[in-house]
Amino acid sequence: MSKFPKEFLWGGAIAANQAEGAWNEGGKGLAASDVQTAGTLTEPRYITYVDANGKPGKALSVHQLPEGAKRAVLDSYYYPYHEAIDFYHRYKEDIALFAEMGFKVFRMSIAWTRIFPKGIEEEPNQEGLDFYRNVFLELKKYNIEPLVTIQHYDVPLYLEEKFGGWNNRKMIELFDKYTDVIFREYKGLVKYWLTFNEINTAVMMKNLIPNYPQDKIKKDFQLLHYQMVASARAVKRAHEIDSNYVVGCMIGGGPSNYPLTCDPKDVLATMEKNQENVYYCCDTMCQGEYPYFAKRIWNQYGVELDMSEQDIKDLKEGTVNMVTYSYYLSGCATSHKCDDLVGGNLNLGPRNPYLKYSEWGWGIDPDGLRYSLNQYYERYHKPLMIVENGLGAIDILEKDGKIHDSYRINYLREHIKAIAKAIEDGVDVIGYTTWGCIDLVSSSTGEMKKRYGFIYVDKNDDGSGTLDRYRKDSFYWYKKVIASNGEDLD
Ligand code: BG6
Repeated sequence: MSKFPKEFLWGGAIAANQAEGAWNEGGKGLAASDVQTAGTLTEPRYITYVDANGKPGKALSVHQLPEGAKRAVLDSYYYPYHEAIDFYHRYKEDIALFAEMGFKVFRMSIAWTRIFPKGIEEEPNQEGLDFYRNVFLELKKYNIEPLVTIQHYDVPLYLEEKFGGWNNRKMIELFDKYTDVIFREYKGLVKYWLTFNEINTAVMMKNLIPNYPQDKIKKDFQLLHYQMVASARAVKRAHEIDSNYVVGCMIGGGPSNYPLTCDPKDVLATMEKNQENVYYCCDTMCQGEYPYFAKRIWNQYGVELDMSEQDIKDLKEGTVNMVTYSYYLSGCATSHKCDDLVGGNLNLGPRNPYLKYSEWGWGIDPDGLRYSLNQYYERYHKPLMIVENGLGAIDILEKDGKIHDSYRINYLREHIKAIAKAIEDGVDVIGYTTWGCIDLVSSSTGEMKKRYGFIYVDKNDDGSGTLDRYRKDSFYWYKKVIASNGEDLD
C-alpha cells in the first residue's frame, strides 16, 4: 500500500526568468534579472550597467553601482535569461510532456514585468495576462493544478532604478496592486499560490559573500520586513477575492542544520543558525508576528526596523495556509575554527564527513528531508509541500537521443523514500515538485550544463543549441513513480 495520500500532488517546478526567455516580447518590461550575465561555479554572475559618462561596466549585485550608473543590457555580454529554454513559445509542447509523466501539479512563476512592464502602470499589459491564462488553460486540459509563485527572484528593473526595489516601502503598495490583478484575473484557474520564492534569501546572503557590507545587512533586514508585510497583505487579499485560495510561504531550505560536533557550543550555534536562516521568516509568516528571538538578532546586527502599526496588523491578519520550501541539502554549524567550508542553495558551513557531495558541492542528505519535514510540522502543524528538490548534474546526450541519468534517479528515489517516512511519522505532506523538471538556466551560476530535468533541453552555456527536448531515463522512472503513487521506486 502506498504511504502517500491518494490526492498527493506529484509534479515539477520552474521559474519564469530561468525558463521563459522572450525577454522583450509580448509587451514585457525589463526585469532586474535581464541584466544578469552568465557565470560558472568559480566565476560569479554580474549585473551590467552604463555609468554617468556612458561607459559600460559590470558589478556584483551586492555592491553599490557607481554614482549615476544605470543598469543596462550591453551588446558585448551574453545574458542567459534572454532566451532561456524558450518556454514562452514552447509551453504547449512542454506541458504535454509533463502530462505524459502524469503530473498532478506544476509549479511556475509569473513575471511581474509581463503584467506591469515597469511596475507602476495604471493598467496591466493584456498580452502578459493572456499568456499566463493560456498556460493555465493548457494545464487544465490535462488536469494539472498550477502552483504559482508570485515573485521568483524577478523585479521590474524600473522599480529597482527608481525606488531601489524592495529597499523602499513603496514596493508594498505596488506589489499589492500586482497581486490584486492576478488574484482576480486567474480566479477559478489557479488555487495554490506562493508569495515570494525563498523569502529568507535576504538574510542568508550575508553569510555567503566575503566582506559583505555591514550597512547592507541592516538594509537586508528592512527589505525582508517589507516583503513579509507585502506577503501578508497578499494572503489577506487572496482570501477576500476567493476563499478557496491556498497561499503558502516559500522558504529556502529547511531547519536542517546539524551541530558539527557534540560540543554544546556547536548545538547552540546550530540553534542560532536555524533560527536566523529559517524560523525568523517562517515563524513570522505562519504565526503573524516576529518570534521572541528576533530582538537578539536585531541587536546583533544593529537593526532598527521601520515597522508601522499597520505592518503589525497586516502580519497578524495575513498568516499563510501552508508551508512550502526548497530542499536540496543540509548544513552544519560549529563554534570551532573550520577551513573546510561547503556551500549550496544559500547555505554555507562546515563539510559534513558523513555525506557525499554533488559536482557543485551540494551535500546530499535525504535523511535531512525527513528531519526538516518533522521539524516544520512539529512547530506549525500546517500542511507542507516540498516545492524544490533535485540534483544539478552534467548530462550526456547520447547519439541515439537517450540520456542515462541514473544518478538523478538515485537522488530522487532516496528523497521520495524520506518523504514517505515523514508521512509515516504523521507529517501532513501534500505535494512534491522537483526543481527544474525540464532543464533550465541555473540561478546561481547562469549555466545550462547544471541540469535538473527529466527533460533534456539541447542548449549550451554559450547559448548555442537547437532547443529540442529529449526524454531522459528519469522521465520514464518518474512516470512510474507517479502512476504508482510513490510505491514503485525501482
Ligand atoms: C533555488 C531557487 O534556490 O534553487 C531556484 O529557487 C534555483 O531558482 C534552485 O534554480 C537551484 O539552484 P541553482 O543555482 O542550481 O539553479
